[in-house]
Amino acid sequence: MSMEWYDMAKYTVEGVSGETIFERKLSKMLEKYDEVLDAGCGHGEFTLKMRRHANRIIGIDNSLEMIKIANKLKADMKAQRVEFLNYSTKETLPFKDQQFDLIYSRRGPTSIINQNRILKAGGVIFGIHSTNMDELEDKLIDQGFTEIEFDVYDSAFLVFPDKDEFAKYLTASNGNPDYTSPENRLKFEELIAMHTVGDKIKYKEWRYIWKAKRR
Ligand SMILES: C[S@@+](CC[C@H](N)C(=O)[O-])C[C@H]1O[C@@H](n2cnc3c(N)ncnc32)[C@H](O)[C@@H]1O
Repeated sequence: MSMEWYDMAKYTVEGVSGETIFERKLSKMLEKYDEVLDAGCGHGEFTLKMRRHANRIIGIDNSLEMIKIANKLKADMKAQRVEFLNYSTKETLPFKDQQFDLIYSRRGPTSIINQNRILKAGGVIFGIHSTNMDELEDKLIDQGFTEIEFDVYDSAFLVFPDKDEFAKYLTASNGNPDYTSPENRLKFEELIAMHTVGDKIKYKEWRYIWKAKRR
């Protein structure tokens, strides 16, 4: 993953974003749980923000570059009770059985659900993603999760100040081509036409928030 990912697109939000709802719900949960894992913590900014509500958070990410940035931010902030480690959710994680009370993932790898060994019985897994989670429910059931909840949030719009910021945003979204490159210009112009309302580029934000408990 490149440093450009870190250079996030600028936009304003009209309406209530699913991201805001996730953050509010997570902040409340963090007050109740001691040992927390952030799966796919990226550059750590969100983990560092959330630690204010938490006893202790470990963030893992499979990108060494992201973990280096996270550790630099942590050092700059002299942050305590937070740790960043370079691990993939697809490998055996170096944590004890039932170590965590809460695992969350903010647009990180859903493969964390296969690591239920490290979540306490009765512990909670909580996630937000931008793509439909149709298959996730069955996988959660297979992995022994219960009390599964899914909510869709689609009432917010992202409003971009210009085409460049819109291109940057789309490019950073999973599975999209590089819309900042001239070779994708035609497709990008189509997207601009689809999402222009008056003189604004407005893009509907879809978010899927899910939660489950380990038996
Ligand atoms: C969209 S970013 C979200 C980062 C962070 N959660 C945030 O909200 O700012 C997704 C992150 O998941 C990480 N990731 C993807 N697959 C992973 C895996 N299998 N194990 C660990 N991290 C992974 C990526 O490196 C990336 O940093």
